[in-house]
Amino acid sequence: MKAIAWTKYGEPEVLELREFEKPTPKKDEVLIKIHASTVTAGDCRLRASKVPMGFWLPTRLAFGLLKPRASIPGMDVSGEIESVGKDVKLFRKSDKVYGTTGMKLGANAEYTCLHENSALVKKPDNITYEQATAIIFGGLTALHFLKDKANIQKGQKVLVNGASGAVGTASVQLAKYLGAEVTGVCSTSNIELVESLGAIRAIDYTKEDFTRNNEVYDVILDTVGNLSLAQCEKLLTKQGKLILINTGLLTNLLSVIKKNLICGVAGESKEGLDFLRERIESGDIKAVIDRTYSLAQTAEAHRYVDTGHKKGNVVLSVKHEET
Ligand SMILES: NC(=O)c1ccc[n+]([C@@H]2O[C@H](COP(=O)([O-])OP(=O)(O)OC[C@H]3O[C@@H](n4cnc5c(N)ncnc54)[C@H](OP(=O)(O)O)[C@@H]3O)[C@@H](O)[C@H]2O)c1
Repeated sequence: MKAIAWTKYGEPEVLELREFEKPTPKKDEVLIKIHASTVTAGDCRLRASKVPMGFWLPTRLAFGLLKPRASIPGMDVSGEIESVGKDVKLFRKSDKVYGTTGMKLGANAEYTCLHENSALVKKPDNITYEQATAIIFGGLTALHFLKDKANIQKGQKVLVNGASGAVGTASVQLAKYLGAEVTGVCSTSNIELVESLGAIRAIDYTKEDFTRNNEVYDVILDTVGNLSLAQCEKLLTKQGKLILINTGLLTNLLSVIKKNLICGVAGESKEGLDFLRERIESGDIKAVIDRTYSLAQTAEAHRYVDTGHKKGNVVLSVKHEET
């Protein structure tokens, strides 16, 4: 099979298309014929080893100290089950699925194997494989922080800083679905997009500094990494919460004692993916795709994501040569 080879950390050039042996599922695994994958901000951080302060060593220990432990990068997948191991009960051949390989990586490929209990479920019926993969990274992150951690309630005021990225576009829609009144912060060219996703107001950060306004919020989610608790405390209601998803180890440790600060790393689960599928099928949430690349163009896709200015998601469309 064809897949992206990743043998060292560095610039996008470290990624190249190569021939790999097609994997064979173990007795409790499924073999997925991948039709779409993604390149996320997380994939780029991992490739370049550019992580928030204090996370370099933990990340290297988790993914490979001197070189990547996984030979193929990528986390999000959508495709069809091609075969199942003899003990698999949850999936059958030809099931259409979407999910994440998590820390195992290996999604930027024509095929991958996953344990049947992994974060892998039936894909939403009403969208393409490309759209399905595009909701995973931002959707699961939004779910973890806004629903599970901040427990957003109907009528609350929520501000999303970085509302036009993968996490931002999913967060605006999820917060709106949960009944919040959402304000999004983005640049001029993304105002229309953010409002179309359900924000009652989009603040253009190139023209206005929202931290100087007199508005207060029940929840502020910062996906950009340019806000601090000291800066935001006056913008929060008495019970208000600041969510920093792109911050260093010290702030993460501070969040253990500060009740109004939420940090950490989003996880992945079948329940989260099922929840997103239901929201997509009911039309409450949609995937925002900026650009689509072929598998062979993965390095180019990384270069674009590295700019930090994508709108929503960057997808890899995986075409299989008929044999
Ligand atoms: N802790 C966790 O578990 C977790 C999970 C997922 C992601 N993350 C991290 O969260 C960050 C965001 O992820 P993502 O996938 O959403 O990134 P992304 O899609 O690359 O975000 C890019 C967006 O950020 C906007 N942006 C850039 N500068 C801005 C500013 N000063 N103010 C407002 N918006 C600005 C850009 O809009 P313009 O082009 O208009 O500037 C662009 O649309 C990444 O660093 C990622 O590693 C953490």
